[in-house]
Amino acid sequence: MPARIFTSFCAALLALSFFAGCGPDKSQESDAQLGLDAQESAGRQIFNQRCASCHYAYSSRSLHGPGLKNLYKKKYLPSALPANDRFVAQTTVNGRKMMPAAGATLTDEQLHDLLAYLHTL
Ligand code: HEC
Repeated sequence: MPARIFTSFCAALLALSFFAGCGPDKSQESDAQLGLDAQESAGRQIFNQRCASCHYAYSSRSLHGPGLKNLYKKKYLPSALPANDRFVAQTTVNGRKMMPAAGATLTDEQLHDLLAYLHTL
C-alpha cells in the first residue's frame, strides 16, 4: 500500500484508540518506564500479587472492585469517603463489603509501600 495511505491509516488507528480511551497499556510497562522509585515498585509488586485480581490499576473500569486509576487525584473514593491515606489504608487493612481484609497478612512496611504505589496511579 502506498506510504501516504499507510500513514493516514496509522494516524486514523491512533486517533481511534485515543478516543476509545485505550492508549498504551500502562500495566505492561516496566517500573522504570513508569518512573517508580524503589518503594513504589515494591508496592507495585504487592499490588500485582494481592489486589490486581480485583482492581485495574490503570483504568477506571471495574473488575471485581472499582478501577483505581487516579485514586488520589480525585477528591473522593468510589465509596464517597475522602481520598486520603487514612481511608485507603482502612479499606486495605479491614476490607470493605465484598473486599477481603488484607491487614493480617501485610506488614506496616508493605502497607506503606502499597500506598506509595497507589499514589502514582
Ligand atoms: C476479592 C476482590 C478484591 C481484592 C483482592 C481487593 N479488593 Fe479492593 N475492593 C473490592 C471491592 C468489591 C470493592 C468495593 C467495596 C465497596 O462496595 O465499597 C473494593 C474497594 C476498594 C477501594 C475503594 C474503597 C472506597 O472507599 O471506595 C480501594 C482503595 C481498594 N479496594 C484497594 C484495594 C487494595 C489496595 C487491594 C490489595 C491489598 C485490594 N483492594 C484488594 C474487591 C477487592
